[in-house]
Amino acid sequence: MATTVLVTGGTGKTGRRLIPMLRRRGSAVRAASRTPAPARGGVEPVRFDWFDESTYRAALAGVQAVYVVSPHLTGTVADASAQMEKFVHAAAASGVRRLVHLSSFGVDQAPPDDPLRRAELLVEGSELPATILRPAAFMQNFSENHWSGLARSIRERGELAMPFGDYPVSHVSARDIAEVAAAALTEDGHEGKGYTLTGPEAITFAEAAAHISAAAGRHVRYVDPGPDAIRDALLGSGAPAEFAAYVSETFRFAITSGVMKAVTGDVSAATGRPATSFAEFAADAAGAWIP
Ligand SMILES: NC(=O)c1ccc[n+]([C@@H]2O[C@H](COP(=O)([O-])OP(=O)(O)OC[C@H]3O[C@@H](n4cnc5c(N)ncnc54)[C@H](OP(=O)(O)O)[C@@H]3O)[C@@H](O)[C@H]2O)c1
Repeated sequence: MATTVLVTGGTGKTGRRLIPMLRRRGSAVRAASRTPAPARGGVEPVRFDWFDESTYRAALAGVQAVYVVSPHLTGTVADASAQMEKFVHAAAASGVRRLVHLSSFGVDQAPPDDPLRRAELLVEGSELPATILRPAAFMQNFSENHWSGLARSIRERGELAMPFGDYPVSHVSARDIAEVAAAALTEDGHEGKGYTLTGPEAITFAEAAAHISAAAGRHVRYVDPGPDAIRDALLGSGAPAEFAAYVSETFRFAITSGVMKAVTGDVSAATGRPATSFAEFAADAAGAWIP
């Protein structure tokens, strides 16, 4: 019988790409979202809300493996450990035998009371065989829906506005993350491992703007909007003050400490092919930047 995989964040940057990869590997997929899409070829949509525990049981029924995109930092919540704890227990009780958790770059070095590290410790301490993915910032933040609003400001104003632009960051493609997740959800040998997923090079935001300009065929300039720009943008979009401050501070530390420039070989180790470069990503995503 085919394995059924529950993909949380099934409409997001990694989940959406993971679903067809799992289908190609022969798995049945349950795609979780707060607003499920219509069913199609081997993909069963299910309503799932991290903040509505009553949705956990139906989402997990008959599932052997789960891709966990926690609600940390996806909208308005900095600490979702309580939801993670309930969900991981429900998954173990319902017979799940494999879990892949999407965490973030460097979280294994964070103190145990950091909300993201707390979520990792819950996964590591559970009885479920688990793999933790720790990706760098996604390349798709420049081209798809993201709290930074980057795609829109590039498309509408020709501006890539981000603070701390001189620091290099080893952005990773969501496609590469999804490929590693597909391997870890369907193959043996990834249990108990943590993968730090980066692109093949670290580049500054000004260099990213140059790649985007070349791919989109229009000039996109890098603009430094000042150190509080992320906090202010989140507050402007209605995010709670505590969440805006946490995201802004996490971002500032991650970039200015220089840790985000590290490049690892974990994408190729897990997939057997080189990680996607920013230029390759930009060529693929160019349509997102045409007004
Ligand atoms: N983006 C990055 O650069 C980056 C880097 C490292 C780690 N991460 C981690 O990756 C994860 C995804 O982040 P992202 O910003 O790129 O978002 P995303 O995956 O593109 O979108 C968020 C996903 O989460 C789902 N979601 C949001 N709130 C939910 C809720 N209450 N219940 C159920 N599902 C919910 C959304 O589905 P619906 O709206 O359809 O319900 C959507 O599929 C986060 O945990 C983040 O910390 C992101």
